[in-house]
Amino acid sequence: MDQTKLESFVMRAVGDLSAAYGGVMVSLGSKLGLYKAMAGAGPISARQLAARTDCAERYVREWLNAQAAGSYVDYHAGSDTYELAPEHALVLADEESPVYLPPAWQVPASMWFDEEKTLEAFRTGKGVAWGEHDGRLQCGSAAFYRNGYRASLVPEWLPALDGVVERLEAGIAVADVGCGHGHSTVLMAQAFPQSRFHGFDVHAPSIDEAWQNAAATGVAERVSFDVARAVDYPDQQYGLICFFDCLHDLGDPVAAARHAARVLAPGGTVMLVEPFAQDRVEHNISPVARIYYAASSTICCAHAISEGGNLVLGAQAGEARLAEVFRNAGFSHFRRAAETPFNLIFEARR
Ligand SMILES: C[S@@+](CC[C@H](N)C(=O)[O-])C[C@H]1O[C@@H](n2cnc3c(N)ncnc32)[C@H](O)[C@@H]1O
Repeated sequence: MDQTKLESFVMRAVGDLSAAYGGVMVSLGSKLGLYKAMAGAGPISARQLAARTDCAERYVREWLNAQAAGSYVDYHAGSDTYELAPEHALVLADEESPVYLPPAWQVPASMWFDEEKTLEAFRTGKGVAWGEHDGRLQCGSAAFYRNGYRASLVPEWLPALDGVVERLEAGIAVADVGCGHGHSTVLMAQAFPQSRFHGFDVHAPSIDEAWQNAAATGVAERVSFDVARAVDYPDQQYGLICFFDCLHDLGDPVAAARHAARVLAPGGTVMLVEPFAQDRVEHNISPVARIYYAASSTICCAHAISEGGNLVLGAQAGEARLAEVFRNAGFSHFRRAAETPFNLIFEARR
């Protein structure tokens, strides 16, 4: 037994445990408005924060101490006050920031809540559909991805695709397959008023949510949302077909890509957005890959299996396997167009 190795791993595992407890605190702080009340406030006492957020002081003090212990906020012992740095406020308090993280904690919350279903799935090999999970999964992942899409989709990802922005400006039909809550659809509709956007998803409550998002942002006339599967949504000769973080969830991704090939207009493009991953497990040793593999074990693989599981890619499929999906579906062109720490963005044409 290597004692140093043991001690170092115990510290590592305790650090992870501490982070998991901290995640509960992040969720509370976000839902109670504690971080928002601290943002830009400078040093603030527990009593002041409790008063500003209409919370009980004793709970707020303990929460603040947990924040200080985790270095999420600074504690000033002389004045017994707590301070949220502006950089930390971007991550914890600013709902519009591309690095706003609190909604992401709703996903592991749903994973804990659904543990019995996952245990059963591991033992039987059966699937668990996306819609069978606790609602915090759909809301948490949609809210988390929304800010990344807002930062990158229109300014970076679409311009990285050959000729697509020009076609969107001229006016084309666009399909957003597996659109979820439709944040990606709405962002594109806001940017390109000449084009028409059609979101499809098998999860009816998400489609309802997408309609509400469209109405709230004033683009409802330029978008439509329908419950439909990735293999049989209607043919409208789309100039652009998008898959945002959903291809790897499908039970038959090749059939979905084949359907896209069928309903794509001549010269049309598929934009595939997938979780960032290298091709080989040994190169996916990172905190981001860990998040994706864990979500994949409980959610993505489980959904693909629930749909028959012809090809269960998992959330760390990597470029080589994704390219093969499109090659097998009859696409002659596939290239990586852009990337972020969380996503790979590909362009495919027939
Ligand atoms: C991880 S979520 C991504 C949602 C959204 N595109 C986003 O980026 O936030 C995967 C989505 O794919 C949808 N989905 C799963 N299987 C599908 C299928 N066979 N056809 C269409 N949508 C499907 C799920 O209902 C879910 O909304």
